[in-house]
Amino acid sequence: MRIDLLSIFPDFFTSPLDEGIIRRARLAQIIDIRIHNIRDYACDRHQMTDDRPYGGGEGMVMKPEPLAACLKAVPRYGEKHRVILLSPRGPCFSQQQALNYAGLDQLILICGRYEGVDERFTERFVDEECSIGDYVLSGGELAALVVTDAVCRLLPGALGCADSAEKDSFSRNMLKHGQYTRPPVFEGMEVPAVLLSGDHAAVDRHRFVESIRLTMCRRPDLLKGLELSREERKVLKQEGLLTQVEQMQARV
Ligand SMILES: C[S@@+](CC[C@H](N)C(=O)[O-])C[C@H]1O[C@@H](n2cnc3c(N)ncnc32)[C@H](O)[C@@H]1O
Repeated sequence: MRIDLLSIFPDFFTSPLDEGIIRRARLAQIIDIRIHNIRDYACDRHQMTDDRPYGGGEGMVMKPEPLAACLKAVPRYGEKHRVILLSPRGPCFSQQQALNYAGLDQLILICGRYEGVDERFTERFVDEECSIGDYVLSGGELAALVVTDAVCRLLPGALGCADSAEKDSFSRNMLKHGQYTRPPVFEGMEVPAVLLSGDHAAVDRHRFVESIRLTMCRRPDLLKGLELSREERKVLKQEGLLTQVEQMQARV
Protein backbone atom coordinates (compact mmCIF):
# COMPACT_ATOMS: atom_id res chain seq x y z
CA MET A 1 0.00 0.00 0.00
CA ARG A 2 1.10 3.56 -0.62
CA ILE A 3 0.28 6.62 1.50
CA ASP A 4 1.04 10.14 0.29
CA LEU A 5 1.07 12.97 2.83
CA LEU A 6 0.66 16.54 1.56
CA SER A 7 1.64 19.27 4.00
CA ILE A 8 3.33 22.64 4.31
CA PHE A 9 5.30 21.20 7.26
CA PRO A 10 6.89 18.05 5.83
CA ASP A 11 9.44 17.79 8.67
CA PHE A 12 6.55 17.15 11.05
CA PHE A 13 6.47 13.52 9.89
CA THR A 14 10.14 12.63 10.13
CA SER A 15 10.35 11.08 13.57
CA PRO A 16 6.86 9.50 13.88
CA LEU A 17 7.28 7.68 10.57
CA ASP A 18 10.71 6.47 11.52
CA GLU A 19 9.79 4.60 14.72
CA GLY A 20 8.26 1.28 15.75
CA ILE A 21 5.69 -0.53 13.65
CA ILE A 22 5.57 2.08 10.87
CA ARG A 23 9.33 2.03 10.49
CA ARG A 24 9.38 -1.78 10.34
CA ALA A 25 6.53 -1.85 7.82
CA ARG A 26 8.35 0.68 5.64
CA LEU A 27 11.60 -1.26 5.77
CA ALA A 28 9.75 -4.47 4.92
CA GLN A 29 8.09 -2.62 2.01
CA ILE A 30 4.64 -3.38 3.38
CA ILE A 31 3.88 0.32 3.15
CA ASP A 32 5.38 3.03 0.99
CA ILE A 33 4.95 6.49 2.54
CA ARG A 34 5.80 9.62 0.55
CA ILE A 35 5.79 13.16 1.86
CA HIS A 36 5.10 16.15 -0.37
CA ASN A 37 5.75 19.77 0.49
CA ILE A 38 2.80 21.83 -0.76
CA ARG A 39 5.01 24.92 -0.63
CA ASP A 40 7.11 23.51 -3.50
CA TYR A 41 4.05 24.01 -5.71
CA ALA A 42 3.38 27.65 -4.84
CA CYS A 43 3.58 29.83 -7.94
CA ASP A 44 4.79 33.16 -6.53
CA ARG A 45 8.32 34.00 -5.48
CA HIS A 46 7.45 34.09 -1.77
CA GLN A 47 6.04 30.56 -1.98
CA MET A 48 2.73 31.70 -0.50
CA THR A 49 0.34 28.87 0.27
CA ASP A 50 -2.25 30.95 2.13
CA ASP A 51 -4.13 34.22 1.75
CA ARG A 52 -6.76 36.34 3.50
CA PRO A 53 -10.36 35.07 3.45
CA TYR A 54 -12.81 36.63 1.02
CA GLY A 55 -15.57 38.29 3.00
CA GLY A 56 -13.16 39.22 5.77
CA GLY A 57 -12.70 37.59 9.13
CA GLU A 58 -9.92 36.06 11.15
CA GLY A 59 -6.97 34.04 9.96
CA MET A 60 -5.77 32.84 6.60
CA VAL A 61 -7.03 30.25 4.12
CA MET A 62 -4.94 27.77 2.14
CA LYS A 63 -4.86 28.77 -1.50
CA PRO A 64 -6.31 26.26 -3.99
CA GLU A 65 -3.61 26.43 -6.69
CA PRO A 66 -0.58 25.07 -4.75
CA LEU A 67 -2.78 22.32 -3.26
CA ALA A 68 -4.09 21.35 -6.70
CA ALA A 69 -0.63 21.43 -8.31
CA CYS A 70 0.84 19.32 -5.50
CA LEU A 71 -2.00 16.79 -5.69
CA LYS A 72 -1.72 16.53 -9.48
CA ALA A 73 2.00 15.76 -9.14
CA VAL A 74 1.31 12.71 -6.97
CA PRO A 75 1.38 9.62 -9.18
CA ARG A 76 -1.63 7.34 -8.78
CA TYR A 77 -0.74 3.88 -7.52
CA GLY A 78 -2.89 0.81 -8.11
CA GLU A 79 -6.59 0.89 -8.89
CA LYS A 80 -8.17 1.83 -5.59
CA HIS A 81 -7.14 5.27 -4.35
CA ARG A 82 -8.83 7.97 -2.27
CA VAL A 83 -8.01 11.61 -1.75
CA ILE A 84 -8.78 12.51 1.85
CA LEU A 85 -8.75 15.93 3.46
CA LEU A 86 -8.15 15.87 7.21
CA SER A 87 -10.83 18.16 8.57
CA PRO A 88 -12.94 18.58 11.70
CA ARG A 89 -15.97 18.66 9.37
CA GLY A 90 -15.54 15.06 8.20
CA PRO A 91 -17.13 11.93 9.63
CA CYS A 92 -15.21 10.69 12.64
CA PHE A 93 -12.39 8.23 11.92
CA SER A 94 -13.00 4.75 13.31
CA GLN A 95 -11.51 1.26 13.29
CA GLN A 96 -14.02 0.36 10.57
CA GLN A 97 -12.81 3.27 8.45
CA ALA A 98 -9.19 2.22 9.09
CA LEU A 99 -10.11 -1.25 7.76
CA ASN A 100 -11.73 0.29 4.68
CA TYR A 101 -8.65 2.41 4.00
CA ALA A 102 -6.34 -0.57 4.54
CA GLY A 103 -8.12 -2.28 1.64
CA LEU A 104 -7.10 0.47 -0.79
CA ASP A 105 -3.95 0.63 -2.91
CA GLN A 106 -3.26 4.28 -2.15
CA LEU A 107 -4.38 6.91 0.35
CA ILE A 108 -3.60 10.55 -0.35
CA LEU A 109 -3.90 12.55 2.86
CA ILE A 110 -4.06 16.34 2.67
CA CYS A 111 -3.20 18.33 5.78
CA GLY A 112 -4.89 21.68 6.23
CA ARG A 113 -3.50 24.59 8.26
CA TYR A 114 -4.71 28.03 9.33
CA GLU A 115 -8.52 28.37 8.96
CA GLY A 116 -8.63 25.47 6.51
CA VAL A 117 -8.48 25.10 2.73
CA ASP A 118 -10.30 26.97 -0.05
CA GLU A 119 -13.67 25.28 -0.50
CA ARG A 120 -13.28 25.04 -4.29
CA PHE A 121 -10.23 22.79 -3.91
CA THR A 122 -12.23 20.47 -1.65
CA GLU A 123 -15.18 20.39 -4.04
CA ARG A 124 -13.07 19.60 -7.09
CA PHE A 125 -10.38 17.27 -5.80
CA VAL A 126 -11.29 15.69 -2.44
CA ASP A 127 -13.11 12.34 -2.29
CA GLU A 128 -13.90 12.60 1.40
CA GLU A 129 -13.11 14.53 4.55
CA CYS A 130 -11.96 12.80 7.70
CA SER A 131 -11.99 14.02 11.30
CA ILE A 132 -10.16 12.32 14.15
CA GLY A 133 -12.50 13.73 16.81
CA ASP A 134 -14.59 16.63 18.01
CA TYR A 135 -11.79 19.06 18.75
CA VAL A 136 -9.71 21.43 16.66
CA LEU A 137 -6.03 20.81 15.98
CA SER A 138 -3.65 23.43 14.62
CA GLY A 139 -3.08 21.36 11.49
CA GLY A 140 -3.93 18.12 9.73
CA GLU A 141 -0.49 16.57 10.26
CA LEU A 142 -1.26 14.90 13.60
CA ALA A 143 -4.57 13.66 12.21
CA ALA A 144 -2.83 12.26 9.11
CA LEU A 145 -0.36 10.44 11.37
CA VAL A 146 -3.23 8.95 13.38
CA VAL A 147 -4.84 7.64 10.18
CA THR A 148 -1.50 6.38 8.82
CA ASP A 149 -0.68 4.53 12.04
CA ALA A 150 -4.13 2.93 12.41
CA VAL A 151 -4.10 1.80 8.76
CA CYS A 152 -0.51 0.60 8.81
CA ARG A 153 -1.01 -1.81 11.72
CA LEU A 154 -3.86 -3.48 9.80
CA LEU A 155 -1.73 -4.31 6.76
CA PRO A 156 -0.79 -7.99 6.52
CA GLY A 157 2.59 -8.60 8.13
CA ALA A 158 2.90 -5.15 9.72
CA LEU A 159 2.55 -6.34 13.31
CA GLY A 160 4.79 -9.36 13.02
CA CYS A 161 2.20 -11.32 15.03
CA ALA A 162 -0.53 -12.49 12.69
CA ASP A 163 -3.67 -12.02 14.75
CA SER A 164 -3.03 -9.23 17.23
CA ALA A 165 -4.89 -6.56 15.24
CA GLU A 166 -7.91 -8.87 15.08
CA LYS A 167 -8.08 -8.96 18.86
CA ASP A 168 -7.64 -5.22 19.37
CA SER A 169 -10.36 -3.04 20.84
CA PHE A 170 -13.11 -2.14 18.31
CA SER A 171 -12.30 -4.96 15.89
CA ARG A 172 -15.40 -6.71 17.37
CA ASN A 173 -17.43 -3.93 18.96
CA MET A 174 -15.74 -4.65 22.27
CA LEU A 175 -12.94 -3.11 24.30
CA LYS A 176 -9.88 -5.20 24.97
CA HIS A 177 -9.53 -6.84 28.40
CA GLY A 178 -6.83 -5.71 30.85
CA GLN A 179 -3.31 -7.07 30.30
CA TYR A 180 -0.73 -8.23 32.83
CA THR A 181 2.97 -9.05 32.74
CA ARG A 182 5.72 -9.88 35.26
CA PRO A 183 6.04 -9.59 38.23
CA PRO A 184 3.12 -11.74 39.50
CA VAL A 185 2.71 -9.39 42.49
CA PHE A 186 3.09 -5.62 42.13
CA GLU A 187 2.61 -3.34 45.14
CA GLY A 188 0.51 -6.05 46.77
CA MET A 189 -1.70 -6.53 43.67
CA GLU A 190 -1.80 -10.02 42.20
CA VAL A 191 -2.29 -11.06 38.59
CA PRO A 192 -5.65 -12.91 38.19
CA ALA A 193 -4.83 -16.53 39.04
CA VAL A 194 -6.43 -17.93 35.88
CA LEU A 195 -3.79 -16.18 33.75
CA LEU A 196 -1.07 -18.19 35.52
CA SER A 197 -2.96 -21.49 35.27
CA GLY A 198 -1.74 -22.54 31.82
CA ASP A 199 -5.35 -23.49 30.95
CA HIS A 200 -5.80 -21.74 27.58
CA ALA A 201 -9.55 -22.29 27.37
CA ALA A 202 -10.02 -20.81 30.85
CA VAL A 203 -7.76 -17.85 29.93
CA ASP A 204 -9.78 -17.17 26.74
CA ARG A 205 -13.03 -17.33 28.69
CA HIS A 206 -11.73 -14.99 31.39
CA ARG A 207 -10.51 -12.48 28.81
CA PHE A 208 -13.78 -12.57 26.90
CA VAL A 209 -15.82 -11.98 30.07
CA GLU A 210 -13.50 -9.15 31.14
CA SER A 211 -13.83 -7.54 27.70
CA ILE A 212 -17.61 -7.68 27.98
CA ARG A 213 -17.61 -6.26 31.52
CA LEU A 214 -15.31 -3.41 30.48
CA THR A 215 -17.41 -2.63 27.41
CA MET A 216 -20.65 -2.69 29.43
CA CYS A 217 -19.14 -0.28 31.91
CA ARG A 218 -17.29 2.14 29.62
CA ARG A 219 -18.74 1.86 26.12
CA PRO A 220 -22.22 0.30 26.23
CA ASP A 221 -22.92 1.96 22.87
CA LEU A 222 -20.54 -0.51 21.22
CA LEU A 223 -22.57 -3.54 22.30
CA LYS A 224 -25.36 -2.86 19.84
CA GLY A 225 -23.22 -4.01 16.92
CA LEU A 226 -21.77 -7.01 18.76
CA GLU A 227 -22.73 -10.40 17.40
CA LEU A 228 -22.32 -13.22 19.90
CA SER A 229 -21.81 -16.88 19.07
CA ARG A 230 -23.87 -19.58 20.81
CA GLU A 231 -20.87 -20.50 22.92
CA GLU A 232 -20.33 -16.87 23.96
CA ARG A 233 -23.99 -16.48 24.92
CA LYS A 234 -23.68 -19.62 27.02
CA VAL A 235 -20.62 -18.21 28.82
CA LEU A 236 -22.38 -14.90 29.49
CA LYS A 237 -25.42 -16.74 30.84
CA GLN A 238 -23.23 -18.73 33.21
CA GLU A 239 -21.61 -15.49 34.38
CA GLY A 240 -25.05 -13.89 34.90
CA LEU A 241 -24.34 -11.21 32.27
CA LEU A 242 -26.45 -12.26 29.29
CA THR A 243 -29.68 -10.50 30.26
CA GLN A 244 -27.84 -7.27 31.02
CA VAL A 245 -25.97 -7.39 27.71
CA GLU A 246 -29.20 -8.04 25.81
CA GLN A 247 -30.92 -5.16 27.59
CA MET A 248 -28.05 -2.83 26.69
CA GLN A 249 -28.11 -4.02 23.09
CA ALA A 250 -31.82 -3.25 22.90
CA ARG A 251 -31.51 0.11 24.66
CA VAL A 252 -28.60 1.88 22.93
C1 LIG B 1 -7.08 25.19 12.86
S1 LIG B 1 -7.74 23.90 11.90
C2 LIG B 1 -9.05 24.72 11.06
C3 LIG B 1 -10.31 24.62 11.82
C4 LIG B 1 -11.47 25.34 11.12
N1 LIG B 1 -11.30 26.76 11.19
C5 LIG B 1 -12.77 24.97 11.81
O1 LIG B 1 -13.19 25.67 12.71
O2 LIG B 1 -13.33 23.92 11.46
C6 LIG B 1 -6.52 23.69 10.65
C7 LIG B 1 -6.49 22.31 10.03
O3 LIG B 1 -6.25 21.33 11.02
C8 LIG B 1 -6.81 20.10 10.62
N2 LIG B 1 -7.68 19.63 11.71
C9 LIG B 1 -8.04 20.33 12.80
N3 LIG B 1 -8.82 19.61 13.61
C10 LIG B 1 -8.95 18.40 13.03
C11 LIG B 1 -9.65 17.21 13.38
N4 LIG B 1 -10.36 17.13 14.48
N5 LIG B 1 -9.56 16.15 12.56
C12 LIG B 1 -8.84 16.22 11.41
N6 LIG B 1 -8.16 17.33 11.02
C13 LIG B 1 -8.22 18.40 11.81
C14 LIG B 1 -7.55 20.33 9.32
O4 LIG B 1 -6.73 19.91 8.25
C15 LIG B 1 -7.74 21.83 9.33
O5 LIG B 1 -7.84 22.36 8.03
